[in-house]
Amino acid sequence: MPDAALNEQIRRIAADHAGQPGGVLPALHAVQARLGHVPAEATAILAELFNLSRAEIHGVVGFYHDFRRTPPGRHVVKLCRAEACQSMGARGLEAHAKATTGIGFGATTDDGALTLEAVYCLGACAAAPAVMVDGEPVGRVDAARFDRIVAELRRTR
Ligand code: FES
Repeated sequence: MPDAALNEQIRRIAADHAGQPGGVLPALHAVQARLGHVPAEATAILAELFNLSRAEIHGVVGFYHDFRRTPPGRHVVKLCRAEACQSMGARGLEAHAKATTGIGFGATTDDGALTLEAVYCLGACAAAPAVMVDGEPVGRVDAARFDRIVAELRRTR
């Protein structure tokens, strides 16, 4: 997308929240929901709309793990790192996921199929360890199940 068109799109998305107190977070979420990530161009645009410094916007984006700075892969798998899942083997699952995909949290595989992200409780603690696959929670995920999930995702566009 040309810069001017992208800038205009970001401005339109964010402008809906510009008059709201605390509107920066909803604006950033709206940008990511529409574009899949928060492009670098959003920093200056939101700073202007919300009368904040670029550093303040940059700080908000950096503080929240939910915000992506680059476009995600075709599929996004989020691994829960919170306590209940950790007590049920999430650390081992995380190590397995990183080793077998070859990527860390926040990264995307070279084929563009998969982005791995961390999340802190999916509300599925009773089914720990839990992951979220393209927005759908999946419980009791061990290494073998993770491999099956990834194999299936790689087969689907
Ligand atoms: S701690 Fe993982 S789903 Fe709640």
